[in-house]
Amino acid sequence: MIHGQEACRMSINARRRKMFLLLMILSVIFSILTVSWEQVDHQVMSHVRSFSYRYLINDYSFINGNLILSPEEAKDIDKYPYLINPKHKCQNQEVLLLLFVKSPPKNTDRRNTIRSTWGNETYIWNELGVGVKVLFALGVHVHHFNRAHIQQKLIQENHLFQDLVQQDFSDTFHNLTIKLILQFSWAHTYCPQAQFFMSADDDMFIHVPNLVRYLQKLNHRGVQNFWVGHVHRGAPPVRFKKSKYYVPFEIYPWLSYPDYTPGGGYVVSGDVVEKIYKVCRILNTTLYIDDVVMGISASMIGVTPQDHAYFSGERKAPYHPCIYNKILTSHGHESDMVELWKETTSPRIRNIFTGFIENMYCTIVKVVLFCNPFTTYPCSAAFL
Ligand SMILES: *[C@@H]1O[C@H](CO)[C@@H](O)[C@H](O)[C@H]1NC(C)=O
Ligand SMILES: *[C@@H]1O[C@H](CO)[C@@H](O)[C@H](O)[C@H]1NC(C)=O
Ligand SMILES: *[C@@H]1O[C@H](CO)[C@@H](O)[C@H](O)[C@H]1NC(C)=O
Repeated sequence: MIHGQEACRMSINARRRKMFLLLMILSVIFSILTVSWEQVDHQVMSHVRSFSYRYLINDYSFINGNLILSPEEAKDIDKYPYLINPKHKCQNQEVLLLLFVKSPPKNTDRRNTIRSTWGNETYIWNELGVGVKVLFALGVHVHHFNRAHIQQKLIQENHLFQDLVQQDFSDTFHNLTIKLILQFSWAHTYCPQAQFFMSADDDMFIHVPNLVRYLQKLNHRGVQNFWVGHVHRGAPPVRFKKSKYYVPFEIYPWLSYPDYTPGGGYVVSGDVVEKIYKVCRILNTTLYIDDVVMGISASMIGVTPQDHAYFSGERKAPYHPCIYNKILTSHGHESDMVELWKETTSPRIRNIFTGFIENMYCTIVKVVLFCNPFTTYPCSAAFL
C-alpha cells in the first residue's frame, strides 16, 4: 500500500514538472510572438495594402501632380560640377551599349576586376565587333580627412583608364539619386548615340557577351520605350525606421511604389534616356531610393519595365554550366568574379550544349535549380 502511494505521488510530481515545462515553453513562444508581432503584422499588412493598391487601382498619376515641380522650380540638373570627366569616350563611334557602374571612390579593386572581366571593352570588340562603353559613376569620398588622398588616386586611375565620371557630391547611399541623374545627364550630353543604356552595381556579374547578343536582336527590331530587368511590382515603401531603405511619409506618402527594377542592373533603350533626362529636371528628387525614382520618372513618361528571366534580383546565380550561355546578370560577386567570367565565357560552354540529349539534360537541371521558391531566376528561366 505504502509503496503504491509513493509511486502515485511521484508520478503526480513528474506530471506537474511536465506541465510546468510546457507552460514555460508556451510562454517563451508567446513572448517572442508579442515582441515581434508588430513588425510581422506591419510587413504583412503593408504588402497586402500595396498589392491591392497595385492591382486594383494601379494609377500613379497622382504622384505626377505631387512631385512635378513648377517651371520656376525646375532645376539645373548639373548642380554638382564634374571633377573627372572623360568627355571623348563615346565621340565619333557607334555605341550599342553605354554601361554605367555605380562605384564609390574607394572600390578600386572592384573596378579593376570589372575592367579585366566583363567590363573589358577590347575583349567585347574583338569577340563581337560591337562598341560597348563601360564607365564608373562616382561622387567624392565621404570622409574629409582622407578625401584629398583618395581623390589623387582617382585622378591617376582615370589617367590610366579614362573611364571615371565624377561629380562633386558626397558618395553616400542617400545620395544615390544624384548619381542616377549624373548617369542620365552624362549619357544625354556625351553619348546620345548609344542604342542602349545600362546601370549596374559594382558587385554585379554581367555576362556582357550574352547581353550584347540579346540587345542586338532587340536593336534589329528597333525597340523603343524599352526598359528591362528584374521587376518589382507593387512594392510598399519601407516604414521600419531601422531599415536602410526606410522612407518617411513626408517624403513618400503613398502605399506602393510604381513598378521598378532594382538598381543592381537594368537596361533601357536610348530614347528612354532622353525622356528620363528631361523628366528629372522637373521632378522633385528628394526621394533617395534611386531605383524607385527611376520607376517614378518612367511612369511619368509612360514607360513600364519588363521582366527578363535571366536578370537576377538581389541574388546570386547558381554555378552550373547549363545556364552559362543564358545568364545575363547575377548579384553579390567579388572574389569569384574572375573565375566566373572565365567559366562562363570559355568557348567550350558555347559549343557543348547543342545536341538534343544535352538540351534535355540541361532543361532538367534548370527545372531542379529554378522551380522552387528560393532561386535567383524564375521557373520560366528553365525553358528559355
Ligand atoms: C582585355 O581583353 C584583351 C583582349 O582579349 C586583352 O588583351 C587584355 O589584356 C584585357 N584587359 C584586361 C585589363 O584584362
Ligand atoms: C549629398 O551630397 C551633398 C554634396 O556633397 C552633401 O552636402 C550631402 O550631405 C550629401 N547627402 C547625404 C545624405 O549624404
Ligand atoms: C520636394 O519634396 C520634399 C518632400 O516631400 C519637400 O520637403 C520639398 O519641399 C519638395 N521640394 C520642392 C522644390 O518642391
